Amino acid sequence: MKYYDEILSITDQIKFKHSFVPRLSYDNIVIAGMGGSSIAGEIFGEIYTRVPVVVSRGSDIPDFVSDKTIFIAISYSGNTEETISAVEQAMAKRAQIFIITSGGQLGDIGEEKIIIPAGYQPRSAIGYLLTPLLRTFGLVDDSTVDSISNALNAVKEHEGVIKETAAKIVSERRIPFIIGVPPVPSVAYRWKTQFNENAKIFAHSVSYPEMNHNELEAIPNFFGGYNFEYFLSGIPRGQYSERIETTESIAGIRIHRLPFVAGDVIPELFASILYGDLLSYFIAVERGVDPRDVSTIQRFKESVRKH
Ligand code: PA5
Repeated sequence: MKYYDEILSITDQIKFKHSFVPRLSYDNIVIAGMGGSSIAGEIFGEIYTRVPVVVSRGSDIPDFVSDKTIFIAISYSGNTEETISAVEQAMAKRAQIFIITSGGQLGDIGEEKIIIPAGYQPRSAIGYLLTPLLRTFGLVDDSTVDSISNALNAVKEHEGVIKETAAKIVSERRIPFIIGVPPVPSVAYRWKTQFNENAKIFAHSVSYPEMNHNELEAIPNFFGGYNFEYFLSGIPRGQYSERIETTESIAGIRIHRLPFVAGDVIPELFASILYGDLLSYFIAVERGVDPRDVSTIQRFKESVRKH
């Protein structure tokens, strides 16, 4: 499959119906994963607020993990060293363990699993990685899937603007600065990581309103000739929409808005993910780099595996 089609396959991925059955009583949820597999947990944790949700990125897990923890390990390949180590520790602590993977070592262990289709880059399997979390905890059902589909289809109508923006970023050597807004600021981080891995460029992500308490000071005073292009990765609601304008005028910047009408949070976040994915893809095309290629990351993984 061409990488462009892999990105657009999110419209099919969100129809994936698998889910887990959590045990009746749990106090917290821990989601372990790295890179493209971890972002699903981050986004889920911002919209599921009934119990604490902690995303654990690394080989060790939080001390509080216990038999009252739902521990969800997400690794697209199933072979990520940190995530495997985290699962082993969670097993020792008798947490209820769920695994989302396409196979690999995690696919072979005897815990409750959802096996997702193989052959994708982990970061373009976001629909397969996130939808089971949303279904398991009752945030998505068949009717929501229709509205997500509509929102994703609407993004495709903006491909011309996305391409123009990508061309501008490349020709003016700009660094994307992505501002995430409540209730799902981590979508900005998703954009950032897609710029890093697909387009092979640096990008900076922040969350709103927190940026008004730190980055806001640096923007008008920066040094070193950085040239940022500012984006909102969500549609600001309530007081935030006016405050974004105040931020723009005080910092002396213009921030790109998503060209959608505000609707329900979940369709909107999927639409934003696709928008950012396409932007990173077209930057890669403009630069003449292969968006699928992550051989540098692979080289690192292989070199630590040998030692
Ligand atoms: O997108 C990528 O390829 C990476 O960010 C991977 O997701 C990351 O290295 C972890 O690998 P996996 O998703 O297979 O656990």
